[in-house]
Amino acid sequence: MNIGIILAAGEGTRMKSRTPKVLHEVMGKKIIQYVLDACEDGRIDKKVLILGHGKDEILKALKNKDFNWKEQPIGEDKPYGTGYAVMQAVDYIEDSSTVVILNGDVPLIEGKTLNEFIKFHKENKNTASVLTADIEEPYGYGRILRHNNQIIGIVEEKDASEEEKKINEINSGIYCFDGKELKNVLNELDNDNSQNEYYITDGIKMIVEKGYKVGGYKISDTVQIKGVNNRIQLSELSKEEKLRINKKHMLNGVTIIDPDNTYIEKDVKIGIDTIIYPNTFLEGKTEIGEDNIIGPGTRIQSSKIGSNNSIENSKIIKSTLKNYNKIGPYAYIRPNCKIGNYVKIGDFVEMKNTTIGDNSKASHLAYLGDGEVGKDANIGCGVIFVNYDGKKKHKTIIKDGAFVGSNSNLVAPIVINEGAYIACGSTITEEVGKNALAIGRARQVTKINKGKDRYK
Ligand code: UD1
Ligand code: CA
Repeated sequence: MNIGIILAAGEGTRMKSRTPKVLHEVMGKKIIQYVLDACEDGRIDKKVLILGHGKDEILKALKNKDFNWKEQPIGEDKPYGTGYAVMQAVDYIEDSSTVVILNGDVPLIEGKTLNEFIKFHKENKNTASVLTADIEEPYGYGRILRHNNQIIGIVEEKDASEEEKKINEINSGIYCFDGKELKNVLNELDNDNSQNEYYITDGIKMIVEKGYKVGGYKISDTVQIKGVNNRIQLSELSKEEKLRINKKHMLNGVTIIDPDNTYIEKDVKIGIDTIIYPNTFLEGKTEIGEDNIIGPGTRIQSSKIGSNNSIENSKIIKSTLKNYNKIGPYAYIRPNCKIGNYVKIGDFVEMKNTTIGDNSKASHLAYLGDGEVGKDANIGCGVIFVNYDGKKKHKTIIKDGAFVGSNSNLVAPIVINEGAYIACGSTITEEVGKNALAIGRARQVTKINKGKDRYK
């Protein structure tokens, strides 16, 4: 049985934030969620989260609660440190289990790596193993101390001598322990160091001193073990994750004009020959088909986009588009819109909870809220679906082939039937029949020479 203990009770003071550190996001996903997902992928059977600072907020933020958790008492008079955090999980540790300890603030660790690390630990019959890496700027990390190439301990930056600070091999904060020895070691930890903290890293030294086997598993992909302690590191890891995702899409046949300025979240799917222009954000469970041109300056959240669409400088939220549509520049498509094929939603058109059928157009400056627009309809410039009476929202139904002239108000609930024609500038309050012409505006009055009177 593999048990994962994830340490996330610390305060994260270096973040200077009201939000608990592990709830900060890397490419749209919470740091702690990355670690939980990695455990899941790494086939860790049971996860125990150690929570303290921000406990309630963290529990509330994690929707899928497929983990156990333990509270670490927090307070000025309370002990502190990664070792003390692990002690809280002692009831979950079985003698025969392999315990994987992870820092809750190291998000890019992959399940595959954890799996290989556990295998390394077991195959070498180690009592403890440490996941390490050589990094160019080791400042801030614990350094791995070796003698005759064997790990003999870990020293924290704050406790390290000048010589030790020169060591480039760092401690990832990820360890494997045999359950029985881990429990023994937890009983013996002390807080005799510059920080007066209980360090789990001391456990490694103690196991060496007892004569048991300790191994180091060094990985070359150093990004996977980088921690987030401040917002600079948060941005560095976000950048790294962003480029990893973008490279994957590019290798799969998507053109990304400027990968540094394109933000695609992990669960997004994109078909081949789609071209993505800079400053585009694709978020949530968005699915995009083939041969689309997306961006520049577009944000699409949890939406389904077919193929051959062009979407420029627009925002689309929780909506569906089929094929060959032209959206934007500057369209705003709010939740629950369904757009057919060959539709044009042009500049400064806002849509919400509205369906629009094939070949229909709303080319400029309109509001389409709570509507049902059929095929081949034309919504002129400045048309408003007047959907709200101050209390309730009402529906506007426009049937196939209807033409709504510019600057018209359609006061919902209202039906405009097939082929009907609304004269521009109308305020329509009654149903308009099939193929009818409706004009709903005051007749023009022109008074000869009256224009000059304005100066009198
Ligand atoms: C720790 C390691 C260091 C390693 C680094 C890797 C120790 C003593 N040091 O240092 O060797 O290079 O991680 O990122 O272990 N936590 C608790 N309870 C506590 C204190 C901390 O749950 O009382 C949690 C924190 O929330 C955090 C994790 O443990 O998720 C690591 O704590 P942090 O203070 O960030 O340790 P580092 O200084 O980074
Ligand atoms: Ca840390």
